[in-house]
Amino acid sequence: HSFLVGYTWENINKKKAKETIAKFDTVAKVDAALADLRKYWDTLLGNYTLDSGDEKLDRMVNIWNQYQCMVTFCFSRSASFFESGIGRGMGFRDSNQDLVGFVHQIPERARERIIDIASTQFPDGGCYHQYQPLTKRGNNDIGGGFNDDPLWLILGTISYIKETGDFGILQEQVPFDNDWSVARSLFDHLSVSFDHVIKNLGPHGLPLIGRADWNDCLNLNCFSNDPNESFQTAENKSEGTKAESVMIAGMFVIYGQDYIELCKRLGKTEEAARAQKHVDAMTVAVKKYGWDGEWFVRAYDYYGNKIGSRENEEGKIFIESQGWCTMAAIGKEEGMCHKSLDAVKERLDTKYGIVLNNPAFTKYYIEYGEISSYPPGYKENAGIFCHNNPWIMIGETVIGRGEQAWEYYKKICPAYLEDISDLHKTEPYVYSQMVAGKDAFKPGEAKNSWLTGTAAWNYYAITQFILGIKP
Ligand code: BGC
Repeated sequence: HSFLVGYTWENINKKKAKETIAKFDTVAKVDAALADLRKYWDTLLGNYTLDSGDEKLDRMVNIWNQYQCMVTFCFSRSASFFESGIGRGMGFRDSNQDLVGFVHQIPERARERIIDIASTQFPDGGCYHQYQPLTKRGNNDIGGGFNDDPLWLILGTISYIKETGDFGILQEQVPFDNDWSVARSLFDHLSVSFDHVIKNLGPHGLPLIGRADWNDCLNLNCFSNDPNESFQTAENKSEGTKAESVMIAGMFVIYGQDYIELCKRLGKTEEAARAQKHVDAMTVAVKKYGWDGEWFVRAYDYYGNKIGSRENEEGKIFIESQGWCTMAAIGKEEGMCHKSLDAVKERLDTKYGIVLNNPAFTKYYIEYGEISSYPPGYKENAGIFCHNNPWIMIGETVIGRGEQAWEYYKKICPAYLEDISDLHKTEPYVYSQMVAGKDAFKPGEAKNSWLTGTAAWNYYAITQFILGIKP
């Protein structure tokens, strides 16, 4: 027997329903449709196939992690009731990162997505933080000013070019803020992204953070009297701010180098040389002002005080700057990367993954914003944010500690967590955004599965850095 369950909105005229039933009204037709479906997925997921001898790893890399990457690519964080329903739209940074796990599956769709995202950029390189997938317009309610956003466009575009070799995409004319009268080539969009960082430097020569960087909840210019106010709508006081992000500095060194490499390949040697000077200066600034002695500082606050430093009582060390500065190999020769990753192992690593910061915030700090409003051990306040664990895995591979990267990989990879399903709670084949950290009520309990940048970053870390197959 085959049973058909369906829904049609034409409940008086049953034509559509009858047509659909006719397609599947024999067992043979159902079998054929299932075989087609299997073929579709085998083809789609077959572009990267691993035979490692480890059944769990193969299952994640060949099927489930790729499947989650596809789902996340389609919906970004919109259409999720874990998040905030469709209102949230597609994130500029989220969607660029999602591309990294998807681009090898259907490159043509990735290409279209890159153009859509770039079309919401402003002429000065800044970006709408989110856009609506149906209208493809930037979301005015939240606006822009998140100073990591522009750099993610370099990641998205370069990942696409590395996978496809399609340098032609750089010649595509792309509007700014969907206004065709100010369209320029996609390459020019990357240039303004690069320049947005160097036009917004703070007193230490590090990038100003703006409303936030990747950590949407580290709101250094917000000063909200109400800890329940969302960072999405809060006013910011940016006049006279000294708030700088060491994470964006690390990102700038990595994607700046990618940009330089791209310029060289395109024969733009002058532009490459100009960009190199800025990347070198950023590297110097991080070594000088972003190093705390044993690990990288996370940021400077509005007043110019360090965050993520041994000088702080809470939030002495954060994962983001350790990840980005080690991925960028900043201070590798001087031993900074080794020390930074040793500090991660000592202070942030737990049985269930690496926590975001330590010690957790136990009270609301008006100068740090939303991050300090979460209970200790959850979300951005010392939760295991699975999205950023791969940054440390990749950093470990940069200093040649592949075994350590692999250990971190297994700690948060769903297939290796089947034995603790009762604690973990979410599906044993899907990454979750967050696992409760060591300060939480129930460490190891996961939350928000499916739509998270965790999918793409873990796929990227395992395939390109731990297994080492790069396009
Ligand atoms: C958002 C990301 C953000 C992350 C960390 C997620 O919910 O979608 O854009 O980087 O949280 O704050």
